[in-house]
Amino acid sequence: MKSIIEPFKIKSVEPIYFTSKEERIAILKEAFYNPFLIHSNKVLIDLLTDSGTSAMSSNQWAGIMLGDESYAGSPSFFRFEATVQKLTGMPLVIPTHQGRASEKILFSIVGGKGKYFLSNTLFDTTRANIEFTGAEGIDLLCEEGKHTGIPAPFKGNVDIALLQETIREKGAENIPLCIITVTNNSGGGQPVSMANIKAVKKICTENNIPLFIDACRFAENCYFIKLREEGYASKSIPDIAAELFSYADGCTMSAKKDAFANIGGFIALHDKSLALQCRNLLVITEGFPTYGGLAGRDLEAIAIGLVEVMDEHYLHYRIRSIEYLANKLIAAGVPVMQPAGGHAVYLDAKAFLNHIPVDQYPGQALVSELYLHGGIRSVEIGSLMFGKYDEDGKLVPAHMELVRLAIPRRVYTQSHIDYVAEVIIEVFNKRSEIKGMQIIEEAQVLRHFTAKLHPVE
Ligand code: F0G
Repeated sequence: MKSIIEPFKIKSVEPIYFTSKEERIAILKEAFYNPFLIHSNKVLIDLLTDSGTSAMSSNQWAGIMLGDESYAGSPSFFRFEATVQKLTGMPLVIPTHQGRASEKILFSIVGGKGKYFLSNTLFDTTRANIEFTGAEGIDLLCEEGKHTGIPAPFKGNVDIALLQETIREKGAENIPLCIITVTNNSGGGQPVSMANIKAVKKICTENNIPLFIDACRFAENCYFIKLREEGYASKSIPDIAAELFSYADGCTMSAKKDAFANIGGFIALHDKSLALQCRNLLVITEGFPTYGGLAGRDLEAIAIGLVEVMDEHYLHYRIRSIEYLANKLIAAGVPVMQPAGGHAVYLDAKAFLNHIPVDQYPGQALVSELYLHGGIRSVEIGSLMFGKYDEDGKLVPAHMELVRLAIPRRVYTQSHIDYVAEVIIEVFNKRSEIKGMQIIEEAQVLRHFTAKLHPVE
């Protein structure tokens, strides 16, 4: 088989930033060992997120020039609206400035004390927006999704038996929505099967609970369905996406992922009365319903990106290049979530640094070391992000201690990725020298963004 090549050529480049190890020691200390506090011009390879970091295509940049910036009724909005309607089959489309703005609006309306939102795994901002209303989010991930070392095709699936049990226990009337996150970002970027989505929909219908999709990475999920699920090999990605969305009553989307846009999002849905309530809130917080917190040019970039992302040459390269990094690490014995996710490789920090207890945040320790050793920025998805304290102030750790290496779309080439693998393997070979972390300052909500830490002496 021939090499799988980047399915694009490069017209415009931007610098990456080299620093010495001595400089990085000082930078990391100044940033309190939190990658969110490092300035990006001190990062060599930035794998903090795949969100808003995509390289846009020449077509998208052309669309940017065509953007109509009228306050109301811009043709750019109607192009955007028609694209989302065609993709999702949902008639009501509400633009927002990014995914969490969609979440904030939706959950402000349907959330509240005494309510429960059931999901495969809620992303951190989704959970935060749910909890901010006083409601509770419950993750019902399938068992295979909780074991990093055991490969399975659809580790993002909802545990169907647990879903039924939870609905019985909490009462369907207290569950405003079920939400399936595709792919499951917080659980290793793992896909959800069409069969699972269909099964969740059936249970939701029986219990009169609407089903929403957190659609940030819908195209990557659809490509996994095409590759791994029986009956989908010969279907096109738009057809698979149409089926996936057909089981949902609505969706929230961050266009910063699978729309190749640097900003943007939307809510799409069928329910007119809910859409009306969303638009009423939108006007207060985001803007008029034909721009919702975005410029006309952003709406153009999103509309073009949503179509481009379903190109199979692109998706083939995308999924294969993530797997390429994972395979190099696996061959060197590095513990990674298997199989590789759709947008990122996840290191299993608990296994990688098995001498560091979870209350010393092994994930954060590994994030720090990857930056120190090779200028690579990554992010912890573990107990710093999801940990809670019990009544005695003791840490209730997350299911898994992961370090995510999120690959920006169409940004880095194979040699960048080879370098990343080399750095991780070198760090792995001297892992016993790495120390745990302690928190010295933290916020109450979404603490990982701003927490200050220090290595344990
Ligand atoms: N849902 C999922 C599954 C996400 O991954 C994100 C963002 C959001 C919702 C919120 O979207 O950022 O546009 O407000 N994930 C980014 C990440 C931040 O790095 O994974 P947003």
